[in-house]
Amino acid sequence: MNKKIFIGLAWPYANGSLHLGHASAFIGADILARYHRLAGNDVLLVSGSDCYGTPIAVEAAEKGIAPSDIADKYHQEFQESLIDGLKFSYDIYTRTTTDHHSKIVQELFLDLYQKGFLYTKTENALYSPFLNRFLPDRFVEGTCPKCGYDSARGDQCDECGMLLDALELKNPRINPKVLKRVGEVSENERRLEARPSEHFYLKLTALQERLEEWVENTSAPWRKNARGFAQGFLKQGLQDRAITRDTDWGVPIPLPGYESKRIYVWFEAVTGYLSASRLWAEENGTPEKWKEWWCNSDAIHYYVHGKDNIPFHTIIWPALLLAEGTLHTPDHIVSSEYLTLEGKQFSKSRGWAVWLPDFLKSFDPETLRYFLVVNGPENSDSDFIWAEYAQRVNGELISTFGNLVNRVLSFSKKHFPENIRFPVKLDDESMELLRKAEDSFNKVSKLIEEGKFRSAFRVVLEVAEHGNRYVHGREPWIKIKNGTARDEVESDLAVCLHLIHSLAVLVNPFLPGTSEKIHTFLGLDAKSVVWSYPPTPKAISVVEYAPLYKKIEEAEIVTAQEKLGRLE
Ligand code: MF3
Ligand code: ZN
Repeated sequence: MNKKIFIGLAWPYANGSLHLGHASAFIGADILARYHRLAGNDVLLVSGSDCYGTPIAVEAAEKGIAPSDIADKYHQEFQESLIDGLKFSYDIYTRTTTDHHSKIVQELFLDLYQKGFLYTKTENALYSPFLNRFLPDRFVEGTCPKCGYDSARGDQCDECGMLLDALELKNPRINPKVLKRVGEVSENERRLEARPSEHFYLKLTALQERLEEWVENTSAPWRKNARGFAQGFLKQGLQDRAITRDTDWGVPIPLPGYESKRIYVWFEAVTGYLSASRLWAEENGTPEKWKEWWCNSDAIHYYVHGKDNIPFHTIIWPALLLAEGTLHTPDHIVSSEYLTLEGKQFSKSRGWAVWLPDFLKSFDPETLRYFLVVNGPENSDSDFIWAEYAQRVNGELISTFGNLVNRVLSFSKKHFPENIRFPVKLDDESMELLRKAEDSFNKVSKLIEEGKFRSAFRVVLEVAEHGNRYVHGREPWIKIKNGTARDEVESDLAVCLHLIHSLAVLVNPFLPGTSEKIHTFLGLDAKSVVWSYPPTPKAISVVEYAPLYKKIEEAEIVTAQEKLGRLE
């Protein structure tokens, strides 16, 4: 029976370009999706752009444009980077600003409200008499109560790092950045005052036990950072959380009297997993089909994201699902650690970043996928160093994998332009090599299913290394000179080509472009690949051939390094 595999990939904020850190946290979702599809399972990989939230509203106010202009721009760019560039095989990539999404979020909101998991509470919030509205944290600045810095933001002080509640600021004012559109504003007009504001709260306290039980009983492996966080957080005791905000950029609250407020991004964005699944079903003309994943206890749900998203995927989203009561809760939590860049954290303001659109203009995405699998932040932070990237691509991917394919295919095409017959009987060494390829399928399956992509790929590379040793030992280039050994050379090449075909299947989830090329070179259909050791053929032929990758040159790396730390 086909398994129903749901994969929820984190929704990037549509307020800035994606960088290599995003790619490193996201890549696992595509590996899982491609693998499960090849294995014959029914995969639903969903994601989209997270378009609401105050950071986008603040940036829009700063620039004097509409928040939707920013969201539109980045939504477009994200699709180019993720789908066209990195070849992520989403079943649907949507955005949170659709009417469909609002409708599903509002439905869930009302459902939880009726079930008693949402309630309202009135607390003080900062109000601007000048703008006639409450302001969210990021629209506020004031004097830090800890260090006295006079331009601390409403959520955090940039000087001493302290996390703040906007109400703690002394002398709170409108953040001048967001006043661009209004023009010159006096100090008095910027003044804010505390006034009572009513908000909806999620009753997490009522879900404590259910969540604890859920965390204990999910048997699928979670990354240890996720399990550790969730257990620690639950141990401290959950507190109810406000899930609405004073803003006009978001999904409206579906109850009268709250027109100036919106549902907070963390209730709303995570619900995107459900709304996107339903949209996918609708767009396919099978509006009920999402239930095969969501209303089915045999389905398997994976969530893939970076470390900073752990609270929302191990606490908030499961809490909403448990409160709803009928929908499938997460099984696997595949959360990455952080990727740093040449030893430092990515920073937009310091220009310390490698943006995906830039990267993809100059380098082959297959090499990035490769590097992020073998050196990604899977279980601990990892560092992207340009020189190391070049060295591992040139010295490992090209010299092990590329070289094997290169040598065997070019030699075969040159000396056996027609068919290469597969031997009737294999000698021990050839048997051992092919058995290794065959055995690796189960090993790789298990590792991918557990979210251990790095080890899984290691197994594949070992098969390629074994292949290289085999070719080296067989020395077809020497034997061919001696005309009598032509049959022997033919059978060795057949073994190698069959091995390469197996490798093309094994690398498919990781390096889909590479897999497709090899299939084409061997005259095979890359679209009909299945996850199993291919049946031994009677004959194989190399129909065309070109090198798989381009070596990364020193000069390209130097140019890329020079861009770091420079502001556009
Ligand atoms: N946009 C948020 C972030 O990038 C949340 C992403 S995952 C979500 O951190 F699905 F939960 F929205
Ligand atoms: Zn401070």
